Amino acid sequence: MNYVKENLWQIEEVGFDSRYLGKTESIMALGNGYLGSRSATEEHYTTERRDTFVAGTFNKFAENEVSELPNIPDMWWMDFIINGEIFSLEKGITSNFSKRLNLKNGELIREFDWEFATIKLHFTFRRFVSKARRHYLSSFVTVENLTDIPISIQIRSGIDGQVTNSGSQHFHEGEKGLVNGKYIQMMPQTNESEIDFVFTIGHRLNAKNVSERIEMGRRQIFMNYFFDLPSNNSATIEKRMSVYTSIDNDISDHEISEIRETAISEMEALEVFSFEELLQESAEKWSEIWEKHPIEIETENFKDQLAIHFAKYHLHIMTPAHNEHMNIGAKGLSGEGYKGHTFWDTEIFMLPYFNFTHPEIAKSLVTYRYLGLDGAHKKARNNGYEGAQYPWEAANPTDGEVTPVWGAADIVTGQSTKIWSGFIEQHITSDVTFGVKQYIDVTGDQEFTEQKAYEILFDTAKFWGSRLEYNTEKDYYEIKDVIGPDEYKEHVNNNAYTNYTAHWNVTYALNLAKELKEHDPETFERLNQKLELDNVLADLARKVDKIFLPQPTDEGIIPQDDSYLSKKTIDLTKYKSKDGVDGLFHDYNLEQVNEMQITKQADVLLLLYLFEGLFPREMKLKNFEYYEPKTTHDSSLSLSTHAILSADLGKLDESYEFFEKACNIDMGEYMKSSDDGIHAGSLGGIWQMIVFGYGGVRMIDGKLRIEPHLPKAWNKLTYGFDYHGESITVVVMKEGFELTKEDNGNDVVFFSNGEAYTLKNKLSIL
Ligand code: BGC
Repeated sequence: MNYVKENLWQIEEVGFDSRYLGKTESIMALGNGYLGSRSATEEHYTTERRDTFVAGTFNKFAENEVSELPNIPDMWWMDFIINGEIFSLEKGITSNFSKRLNLKNGELIREFDWEFATIKLHFTFRRFVSKARRHYLSSFVTVENLTDIPISIQIRSGIDGQVTNSGSQHFHEGEKGLVNGKYIQMMPQTNESEIDFVFTIGHRLNAKNVSERIEMGRRQIFMNYFFDLPSNNSATIEKRMSVYTSIDNDISDHEISEIRETAISEMEALEVFSFEELLQESAEKWSEIWEKHPIEIETENFKDQLAIHFAKYHLHIMTPAHNEHMNIGAKGLSGEGYKGHTFWDTEIFMLPYFNFTHPEIAKSLVTYRYLGLDGAHKKARNNGYEGAQYPWEAANPTDGEVTPVWGAADIVTGQSTKIWSGFIEQHITSDVTFGVKQYIDVTGDQEFTEQKAYEILFDTAKFWGSRLEYNTEKDYYEIKDVIGPDEYKEHVNNNAYTNYTAHWNVTYALNLAKELKEHDPETFERLNQKLELDNVLADLARKVDKIFLPQPTDEGIIPQDDSYLSKKTIDLTKYKSKDGVDGLFHDYNLEQVNEMQITKQADVLLLLYLFEGLFPREMKLKNFEYYEPKTTHDSSLSLSTHAILSADLGKLDESYEFFEKACNIDMGEYMKSSDDGIHAGSLGGIWQMIVFGYGGVRMIDGKLRIEPHLPKAWNKLTYGFDYHGESITVVVMKEGFELTKEDNGNDVVFFSNGEAYTLKNKLSIL
């Protein structure tokens, strides 16, 4: 990636290379949370991945597959046949190529000169997905004849339903046709979930003497436009598109005929507006996001500032804020990777951004987990447990577990590797609880707390109660046969992260019960009736003090699990310096890696970051120095945790190195980084590194803490956040920090370096 100019709001690729289409398709993806689309080019290339997804429209293609977001018919498609020759950048000479995404208004522009035989044209492609109208997207193409002879042009543009999810075709073709002599519609239906889709497009051409013809093919419907472009003249084509589905929650009638009508009425109503006006309307919606708690970094390294704009842009295009039945996929809506499924990435990595800056979106995300209690009960029951066991991968909230069972090739056996996460990566249950607790602590949302959060907090503790196994010899409760955050260790006993977080979950529920019985017996009784809490709590109270919590060794190292510290170590330099993430598996299979002290991502260190009061600083430092060298950072979730923890430990130079690497996971120069989609969790990590890491904000045991520390490269950092309905701005300088909020009588109490402070309006701490 070449960031030609220092621009804080733009990522740009100069020069075209069809080997690396995946990179810009993902990092320049467009969307609005309802739909997301990779920025695949209008014309086709064999190396492209042409994906567009509508959030929440899960479908299971076949019995032996798990449900996934279907790749919907492609509407960006436009072929240009110039003097009889199909246009492609793989032919002829391309110059002045630029593909750029304006993060501020969500506009994608691609432009270049193209020469082939006697042809010389300048192309400009512009497009956006409206942030103001969730169903609407549009593109605008200008073709300019740079020669002194006329050039004949044919444009083929329509809807292409031949796209698949890497071969799985999720749709029955459905009807298609021309409506009101003007709009093209296609109405496919997903084969198993039976979701109807309505695609509508209209064209506006600005060219002379155009003849046109409609055509249909299998799963395709398109227009053909023919005209001659005189020398030194230009022509434009605007494509107006919309997508509706039968599960949309902003339309009242879900009959297909009604949805078709709605789509056509919208297209007609928008006829009076130009591309420019509709883009402007969308840009105004974007500016609401940019105005909310802007982050400003005073530094020579413009990429740091660009990174937070990049992260926020993507967090908003991938998050289905409009519907609490939907959540964020690990690749957002920008690729087939992880099938659109939701992981712990939401609670531990993305949710904090929303908790602190868009509490209404955070509410929708945690409500999804409340609705997911049904799915979590299903999973617990299937595994012989009680309460709510959250799925490792989630699709529709009531589905329960959707993790696929078979994955990548095993280099030793030549067979697919079994994916155990859906069975035994169980820390997800306390991660969800942790996220919910953070949400209620940061927002103070009393209604959600009483109506939904308590139930999640108790029901997850109930699960842990049934999950604990008694070890008669040692006289403690343990959690055997799990995968911790480090997925390179399977079937381990007593993963520290899992045991400590389960213990926290159980302890929290017991304290909550005590508090409710005392202060809100009615609420307690309601939940008691529903969840049979009396028995559950008695059982938990018996077990809680005997839950095994792996203790530090004499050297101060907290064992990642029962066997980790006795495994052999190998030199990881070769793998840590590589760009790709699977280098290790070119040399070893998972079974072999299981027997070595190699950690995929922050595991013990994540525990130390999230529960910072658990161990003293010295011990954290020792563990950091022990585990980091053994960590390959093969998960994009790893670096941000290391950046924050090392900042907490005062290792600011090291922290800043992690920070820069973490910002480069998608934005950096490695061109194959994002083929399967953007790394959603790492984007939440970028915000966390800035606000939690350097801004020093943390919500610990229900208390707000602010202890900033700037890296050397930054002179000043300004950020803001919402806390219990108050909007707070913080300015951090080298010598101290300053907080402001509206003087409205609502004081904010926070802690900093052991001291309690009360913010009324303005406060400086030097
Ligand atoms: C990581 C998991 C993560 C998943 C989805 C995996 O590679 O190890 O922790 O939840 O990717 O991002």
